[in-house]
Amino acid sequence: MSAGSGYWIRGLITVVWLLSWKNIGAANVKVQGNISKVEDAQNYHIYYGQTFKVIKNGVDGKSYLLIQSDTRMAGRTRYCTPRIKSFVIPLSNFSADTTNTFPVSFFELLGLVGSMKGMTSNSVASECVLKWVGEGEISMINGTEPQQLTPFAAHFVSNVDQFQACNFANFAATGENTPLQRAEWIKFLGAFANLENRANQVYKTVKDNYLCLTKVAGAKEKTFKPIVAWMEYQNGIWSFTKELYKLKYVEDAGGENVDASISKITYNISNPDDIEDLHAILCTVDVVIDETYSSDAVGYNEATFLQNINIEDYSCFGFVTNQSLWRYDKRIQNLTALDWFDGAVSQPQLVLADLIQILFPTGNYNTTYFRNLAKGEGVVSIEPNMCQRDMSTPLDPTVLPCT
Ligand SMILES: *[C@@H]1O[C@H](CO)[C@@H](O)[C@H](O)[C@H]1NC(C)=O
Ligand SMILES: *[C@@H]1O[C@H](CO)[C@@H](O)[C@H](O)[C@H]1NC(C)=O
Ligand SMILES: *[C@@H]1O[C@H](CO)[C@@H](O)[C@H](O)[C@H]1NC(C)=O
Ligand SMILES: *[C@@H]1O[C@H](CO)[C@@H](O)[C@H](O)[C@H]1NC(C)=O
Ligand SMILES: *[C@@H]1O[C@H](CO)[C@@H](O)[C@H](O)[C@H]1NC(C)=O
Ligand SMILES: *[C@@H]1O[C@H](CO)[C@@H](O)[C@H](O)[C@H]1NC(C)=O
Ligand SMILES: *[C@@H]1O[C@H](CO)[C@@H](O)[C@H](O)[C@H]1NC(C)=O
Repeated sequence: MSAGSGYWIRGLITVVWLLSWKNIGAANVKVQGNISKVEDAQNYHIYYGQTFKVIKNGVDGKSYLLIQSDTRMAGRTRYCTPRIKSFVIPLSNFSADTTNTFPVSFFELLGLVGSMKGMTSNSVASECVLKWVGEGEISMINGTEPQQLTPFAAHFVSNVDQFQACNFANFAATGENTPLQRAEWIKFLGAFANLENRANQVYKTVKDNYLCLTKVAGAKEKTFKPIVAWMEYQNGIWSFTKELYKLKYVEDAGGENVDASISKITYNISNPDDIEDLHAILCTVDVVIDETYSSDAVGYNEATFLQNINIEDYSCFGFVTNQSLWRYDKRIQNLTALDWFDGAVSQPQLVLADLIQILFPTGNYNTTYFRNLAKGEGVVSIEPNMCQRDMSTPLDPTVLPCT
């Protein structure tokens, strides 16, 4: 046996011990600093030792051993095996795979953008991150050139399937099933920076506001709950969403999902029977959210929707008559990057408030993420000069009035 493999086996034994220790002595370990408890998210766990933390990522089965930089362990321990990677924390710097939609708003809420030194693409929906790119604080790196990614203490990615080098950490917020579970991934990132306190505080603020809005929406007076359809058109087929977090948003906003009452999900617009069925269902729907991908989001309007639906007589469509046909591409950067995949993930209370307004309009509220095609509403183009914040301070979550 080579010295190298002996080293790895010793390493594995240590880590197996580290991972099992939580079962035997958690109560006796004196932890330095503050800790985060994962309350809602299903796909990761954090365990705390005296000088280290272990994050178990349930999405890719990997464990990240986070070692405090001021300890002896930091100098002598380093892992990069298929299941275990080590990082010295707090990270001195990091980069993010923004080519595959990384929600940088989580870094803004933590006040960590100053340590983000590289991004693989400027396709981000954050005015302030764009501003920092413009000022040269964040470099563009080429994600397909591995040597450009190695200088960073961590490279955060959100695409589980891609090749993962030793410094890659997989941020899988969007794999969760509810809006709050997705938002709680702020604690995952906070752990890499010893920012547990900030992460806990942001999540609590978001969650309290979200739950308060849910409660108020549930108490709204209504004869029937408005019926909502999230639907998408691709290659001649319309389908209703199966994504659980979207269905959850509708329930929490006081609406009802069309999916609850139908068993068929996809409709081929070249098939007359399908068209007939789809027509009938749409006659029962109060609100439609058209999720259809378009390379020209700005030009996507009500006529585009009706053309894709291919039903000539839409006189029974309540969402057309009552003007409630929406898309979630209102905040968009450079015609491509949607804030729906960024800020909406970290601050779901904003999405919920939009949906409550969509279902129970008061008229004196401007939605953040959704635009109404039926009223000809256009997009808001995200530009660096819209950044109003001093970037050395963290972004505070928005707390919406809840009465
Ligand atoms: C832990 O949180 C408290 C506030 O609750 C803060 O004053 C303290 O600085 C934090 N400790 C560390 C090590 O971050
Ligand atoms: C990134 O690197 C790849 C491989 O070296 C190259 O083909 C590509 O042109 C580079 N992209 C940019 C934007 O420089
Ligand atoms: C990131 O931090 C490491 C130390 O952990 C340092 O060696 C490296 O030069 C830094 N890289 C960048 C791009 O700032
Ligand atoms: C839709 O229906 C048409 C006509 O029956 C058929 O040719 C086409 O393959 C169907 N499309 C899909 C994606 O099933
Ligand atoms: C439009 O909305 C009003 C009030 O919400 C409702 O009474 C009416 O039935 C709706 N009309 C259609 C066609 O859905
Ligand atoms: C906008 O997108 C185009 C094409 O996708 C790209 O060439 C250009 O660099 C982008 N501009 C900015 C300011 O991001
Ligand atoms: C909504 O936006 C419009 C146009 O920007 C503005 O005039 C109006 O004051 C806004 N309303 C609210 C309630 O913020």
